[in-house]
Amino acid sequence: MNPKFPSTRLRRTRQHDWSRRMVQETRVSVDDLIWPIFICDGKNIEQPVASMPGVSRLSVDKAVKAAKSAAEIGIPCIALFPSTQPERRSVNGDEALNADNLINTALAAIKEAVPEIGLLADVALDPYTSHGQDGLLENGTILNDATVDVLVQQAVIQAQAGADIIAPSDMMDGRVGAIRKKLDEAGFSHVQIMAYAAKYASAFYGPFRDAVGSTGVLSGDKKTYQMDAANRLEAIREVSLDIDEGADSVMIKPGMPYLDIIREIKDTFGVPTFAYQVSGEYAMILAASQNGWLDKESIMMESLMSFKRAGADGILTYFAYEIAKKLNE
Ligand code: PBG
Repeated sequence: MNPKFPSTRLRRTRQHDWSRRMVQETRVSVDDLIWPIFICDGKNIEQPVASMPGVSRLSVDKAVKAAKSAAEIGIPCIALFPSTQPERRSVNGDEALNADNLINTALAAIKEAVPEIGLLADVALDPYTSHGQDGLLENGTILNDATVDVLVQQAVIQAQAGADIIAPSDMMDGRVGAIRKKLDEAGFSHVQIMAYAAKYASAFYGPFRDAVGSTGVLSGDKKTYQMDAANRLEAIREVSLDIDEGADSVMIKPGMPYLDIIREIKDTFGVPTFAYQVSGEYAMILAASQNGWLDKESIMMESLMSFKRAGADGILTYFAYEIAKKLNE
């Protein structure tokens, strides 16, 4: 094919809305959306997250309502994140294994009230540790294998509570295989694993840590387990290992600054590939639009389109509810 001007004019198909729609290569649909929701203690509570305008922490009763509305407009899956009180945090994050902790209570309540929506639960210790790290900390080192031993228990407890997808976000080596094995042994061979496979040590997570109460808590950084933003080949190795260990789907995180990684992973492995448009990406779009510098509605859709164009099968995004409502119009 060697098209030449003037017989070829690419503007021809761009002239009308109807013909632009006909040649549109990528579409965002409600089925692409996973909606992350922050959970807090109490009843009838909706606590705005300062760094994420439009996002609130919800008490379990409110989260059940949110899940119901999400299911009604066709969102297939929600991801739950607990905001843990400082007094429930400890050096080893024991609260992670409390079957009645906030996340498990929320999972059970939503599973009971809204069985038709998928429930994704993060596995990692950072909501529960007093140092805010994702794993067990000993003399300044995050222990890998000892952490994995705790994560497998956390995964089983969350599956018991009603999680349909276990999403290890901790980046310990070998955790996907260990979790798969333990889930199977515990009778949860039907529970999926979505691995945070290529998760970068990113400053874009700032507002999330605010939302879950880890901000003042976190000591140091997460660079000994989360990936270096400079690395592309290492992301392929991470994903390859996780698939090998039994991941049903993989995730790349953050999203927009890592679209090249999404494309490469999708092309290399062809497995269900998800992207996380993280809290900092959301905050940037909101901050600019609140200043009148960007048009929020357009940017929100354009940003999600970019994930789909890059090859993502779905997107975790704080815009999910808003987008789904818009797409349903
Ligand atoms: C916890 C976790 C984080 C996010 C999802 N799970 C934060 C982190 O690793 O520090 C970030 C999500 C976001 O920024 O929206 N392991």
